[in-house]
Amino acid sequence: MKFENKVVVVTGGARGIGAEIVKHFLHAGAIVHILDKDIADSSNPDKNDRLIASSGDVSNAEDVKSFISHVVSASGKIDVLINNAGIIRDSVIWKMEEDDFDAVMDVNLKGPWLMCREVASIMREQKSGRIVNITSRSWLGNFGQSNYSSSKGGLVSLTRVLALELARSNVTVNAVAPGLIDTPMTRSMKPEIYDQLQSAIPGGKAGTPADIANAVTFLASDEAQYITGQIIHVDGGKSIGANV
Ligand SMILES: NC(=O)c1ccc[n+]([C@@H]2O[C@H](COP(=O)([O-])OP(=O)(O)OC[C@H]3O[C@@H](n4cnc5c(N)ncnc54)[C@H](O)[C@@H]3O)[C@@H](O)[C@H]2O)c1
Repeated sequence: MKFENKVVVVTGGARGIGAEIVKHFLHAGAIVHILDKDIADSSNPDKNDRLIASSGDVSNAEDVKSFISHVVSASGKIDVLINNAGIIRDSVIWKMEEDDFDAVMDVNLKGPWLMCREVASIMREQKSGRIVNITSRSWLGNFGQSNYSSSKGGLVSLTRVLALELARSNVTVNAVAPGLIDTPMTRSMKPEIYDQLQSAIPGGKAGTPADIANAVTFLASDEAQYITGQIIHVDGGKSIGANV
């Protein structure tokens, strides 16, 4: 898959899955813009003149507006948007604070909505574009994640709605739903919880950020032009639902 001269935006691209997505697009020749709230902590080793990193919060409408106008004035267009930034604040509902619900909804659902609202008008004018949202297998329901699972379920619905709204503009909108992936986010869990989640996967092992980046670059490619409104689970079979 080739992305020479394509302009790609990745939110949360400083580390974890986002950093790997950035690496894959850079390797395929793209110009990549990152929006991340912790850009200083960037673990992305690629010091590359096709990589432009900006600091900002996806859930803040002003940050999103000024970032997108910066991308357009620097690179002239946006071919691909990857909504990857996300957070967890897990707890059973009877112990969860209202703030834990609001914070997760703001970053995981409102953030992609704000990004899509800005980018949709640009892609409609261009009459081309690709949007890939990073949801989660947990949209099917996960114990202790009433906030996170709901935000990712909302992102599935947003993906399907925007696929309809943007189809006539030659813009595809899809989502990738990762299962357990080995990143700083999941390593922030208690080790015994991580091990328990890992052993519940049919193949018994977590995925890697590269497993997600491969699916994302395919959905963003010219080759995927007739795929829209789809949710691709990249989860080692966990979403099948039955396991021994
Ligand atoms: N790791 C997994 O197992 C897994 C599974 C399913 C879905 N996901 C999803 O994949 C995405 C990436 O997860 P990860 O594991 O790489 O997480 P991570 O915590 O390792 O990285 C997330 C990145 O997003 C950035 N970010 C967080 N809030 C932000 C905000 N408000 N504005 C801008 N940037 C912000 C962080 O600074 C960080 O660089 C998330 O949407 C997550 O929900 C991850």
